[in-house]
Amino acid sequence: MSTKMISEDIYFVGALDRERKLFDELIPLPDGTSYNSYLIKGSEKTALLDSVDPPKYSILLDNLKELGIKKIDYIISHHGEQDHSGSMIMLLKDFPDARLITNKKCMSVLVDHLQVPESRFIIVEDGDNISLGDKTLQFVLTPWVHWPETMVTYLKEARILFSCDFFGSHYATEELFFNDREILYPATKRYFGEIMLPFRTSIRKNMEKLKEFDIDIIAPSHGPLHRPEEFIWDAYKDWSSEEVKNEVVIPYVSMHGSTGVMVKYLEKALTGKGITVKMFHLTESDLGDLAAALIDAATIVIGTPTILAGPHPNIIYAAYLVKVLRPKLKFASIIGSYGWGGKTVEILADIISSLKLEILDPVVIKGYPKESDLKLLDGLAETILAKHKGSLS
Ligand code: FEO
Repeated sequence: MSTKMISEDIYFVGALDRERKLFDELIPLPDGTSYNSYLIKGSEKTALLDSVDPPKYSILLDNLKELGIKKIDYIISHHGEQDHSGSMIMLLKDFPDARLITNKKCMSVLVDHLQVPESRFIIVEDGDNISLGDKTLQFVLTPWVHWPETMVTYLKEARILFSCDFFGSHYATEELFFNDREILYPATKRYFGEIMLPFRTSIRKNMEKLKEFDIDIIAPSHGPLHRPEEFIWDAYKDWSSEEVKNEVVIPYVSMHGSTGVMVKYLEKALTGKGITVKMFHLTESDLGDLAAALIDAATIVIGTPTILAGPHPNIIYAAYLVKVLRPKLKFASIIGSYGWGGKTVEILADIISSLKLEILDPVVIKGYPKESDLKLLDGLAETILAKHKGSLS
């Protein structure tokens, strides 16, 4: 994307990245992503908000050239992660008069990780303003809307909130405002699951703090902008709440079919009771979809064969991911088949122990499931239904 005008003297100058397959070498990016950098021209000063991932720096530079920008007074860094700040050193070299505005914690990240010289910084506190002449930028510290140093900027006159990772999506589109909710809702939800889910307490606090601002546009640093902003605001309220839904997530692996038969049987038993089931065969599924499903689910049932005396390694990976994403889950169980023994249940229960879930009786059976084993799965479905009825509003 070349430059796009958001409103008079306010431009998108960032870069799309359709080729990138993984974010943080972890999160699949089926729709690519974007690094949204914004330029604001005031009557006296010019500010650039965030930069781009270093491989895309030439695009940012071309965009600034396209707008005839020869001097930048302020570069604002909302977040030290390299997808937004990785080009700072190059920018500071190419714009030698620019001062880098950020908060104290972010300065420390930029100095430690990017070796930005301390002499270039202007440090701001929560609520501080900087005037560009006819435009005023207010800085709001919003810790843990990804990292501890994250902050946002409110452009008072245009009522635009520049939110960095907050309210973003990994969705590359040429359109500045992309209003196809059928596509945007799952993209933003998936991003929330991958990035924001562990920080939902901080998200609620920061949304409370931002409520007092009159916001017409939310301009995140990934994905399309939001106007009107109610759609994304309401979605974040829902996703960051502690409420769970009548849903069961089943990540599973089946090596020779036995665990697969159990998983499918349980799915049928649960859906027959009106419970929504989302299944993820881990050798085929995208972990971002699993993260999105974890936002709402009340229960997780992990399906695994026993291999080398424990869970399948893909299941261990997924269980660890669940542990670190800290979803709202209330209940967990484990189902699967073994050949001659092992410690599958103990190993998995230990991995997810920090989530403090109520563990419902696992159904781990020898060999191919028999009629009596399937009855145990009927029992598990009954228990899940009873637990959901007892704990969901
Ligand atoms: Fe988009 Fe936390 O970086």
